[in-house]
Order: sequence, then structure tokens, then C-alpha cells
Amino acid sequence: EHIARQGIDSHTVLYGVIGDPIRHSKSPIMMNRAFRERGVNGAYAAFHITDDKLGDFIRGVRAMGIRGVNVTIPHKLQVMELLDEIHEGARAIGAVNTIVNENGRLIGYNTDGIGYVRSLKEEAAPSIEGKRIVVIGAGGASRGIVYALLQERPAAITITNRTVQRAEELAASLRADGTKLGASSNDRLEELCGDADIVINTTSVGMFPQVDESPVPGHWLKPGAVASDLIYNPLKTRFLRDAEQHGCTAHGGLGMFIYQGAYAFEYWTGQPAPVAAMREEVLAALQ
Ligand code: ATR
Repeated sequence: EHIARQGIDSHTVLYGVIGDPIRHSKSPIMMNRAFRERGVNGAYAAFHITDDKLGDFIRGVRAMGIRGVNVTIPHKLQVMELLDEIHEGARAIGAVNTIVNENGRLIGYNTDGIGYVRSLKEEAAPSIEGKRIVVIGAGGASRGIVYALLQERPAAITITNRTVQRAEELAASLRADGTKLGASSNDRLEELCGDADIVINTTSVGMFPQVDESPVPGHWLKPGAVASDLIYNPLKTRFLRDAEQHGCTAHGGLGMFIYQGAYAFEYWTGQPAPVAAMREEVLAALQ
């Protein structure tokens, strides 16, 4: 069953990631490891695609029969109008990060939010149902995550943002069945964090090189709460280190990257993703 592959041959199926910039991406090493691990005859490359070349690239996907594409900044919104079908979740989030080429029909998915939630459940909070969640930040990343968290039926999600209007717009634009979904300014963070089971940073505050910054002091959280950060450079931000010292569980952003790729791999190949091997490969590349 398990076929050892010699390398690229005339049956190799092509995949890739597009973005601008793209040379920093760890997706090629992660996905090629996943193909090797599962004996899939695939090859995954990074393509530097500027805005003006996006249409040409998608025509190339159709012409060459590229099976799968990951889409990153700045193309997640623009690419949608070039596809044949947009999956419901990606439509609700308003962004596509994964394309599946089904015999010439290009279908857009979003695996960022569900990847984040799978990582959170695997690594820090096995159940999200009934939990009280604070999400700091109201940008594109926040939108995908809040959409995916809502599927898990938490008791409450409060989105806070430096610009409160953006948090209000985000909360108002999402359907929440059975979850109390609200918005607040960052001024109320101390009170909100003290009452939360899970606090999630979706802003860039604390990202390299600003490693001494934190979106909230870790001691504002309840001991035993989960502190979660989408940032994975550094792997453990100041926010996570401070919260952990205060008795919280720390959940870093690397898992979201791994699992967004795991879902893409599963959509493309129909096989379960070799998550541990993918993580090992990315961690080695980050050293
Ligand atoms: P992304 O796609 O990564 O979410 P984005 O859409 O630009 O990026 O959103 C960035 C988020 O981080 C926003 O919520 C932003 O707050 P504003 O809407 O007020 O701009 C937040 N953010 C960025 N830098 C911040 C800082 N120094 N302090 C607080 N919030 C910050």
C-alpha cells in the first residue's frame, strides 16, 4: 500500500502557494514533507505572484491542471472572483486561502479559521462549547477565527479592538446561534479578561521584532484560563509567557499554521494529514 516515491516523474501532481512576498513561506517544506510521509506523488512550490499577475496565474492553474493552491497575502480577497465556486465558510469569512481544482472546476475554501479551532482543541481547550471567549483585534484574521469559533457554540464571544467601530461591524456581520456575540473597545479588556475562559490575540502586538510588547498583561487573565496567540514568531510571545507564569495554559500560533495546511492536504488528497511530521518539519526550519 505504502509506495516509496523516487521523486518527480511524469505522473507528479502539482501544488503551490501564492503570495507577495512569498520567499519566507514554510508551506512548501511542510506540504512536501506531508506528501512524502503519505506516499503522495505531488510537488508543492512557492510562486511569487504580484497583484497584476493573479489572473494569469489562475489561468495557468487551469491550463496546467495544478491540483491545489494555498493563497496568502495579498490575494485572499481578490482571488475569489476568479474561481468557479466559493465554499460557504469562505464566503462568510470573505476570504479564500485554499483552492481545490476538481477536474477544471476551481473551488475556494478557507481553512484558517477551522485550522485555528482544530489547533486550539488539540493543544489547549478540548471543548469550546459553553466557554466565554475574548478575541482581541477585528481584522481579517479575527474574522476567520470568530466565524469558526461560533460553530463550536461557546457561551459568549466578545471582540475587542483599538478601533471599536471595526469590532462592532465584525460582530454585527456574523450570525451567532446560541452564542452571545458582542463588541467592546480595548478599554474594557481588564474586566473582560478577568471573566474569560479563553483570551485570543489576533493583532500583531508582540510579533518579532516587538517581542517585549503584549496586547494585555498576562495577570489580567484568570489562572486556569487559556491564553492563545496567533503569532508564531516568536513561538511563545510575551503575552503567553506572562499568562503562563500566572497559571494559564499557553497556546501559540504555530498550530494554526500547521492545521490550516492539514485541512488543505485533506481536501486535496482525501487522506488524513500527517500532522506530527508537518510540525516537526516546520519547527526544524524555524530553528
Ligand atoms: P490581520 O489580517 O492580521 O487581522 P488587519 O486586518 O490589518 O490584519 O488587522 C489588524 C488588527 O490588529 C486590527 O484589529 C488592529 O486594530 P485597528 O482595527 O484598531 O487598526 C489591530 N492592531 C494592530 N496593531 C495594533 C496595536 N499596536 N495596538 C492594538 N491593536 C492593534
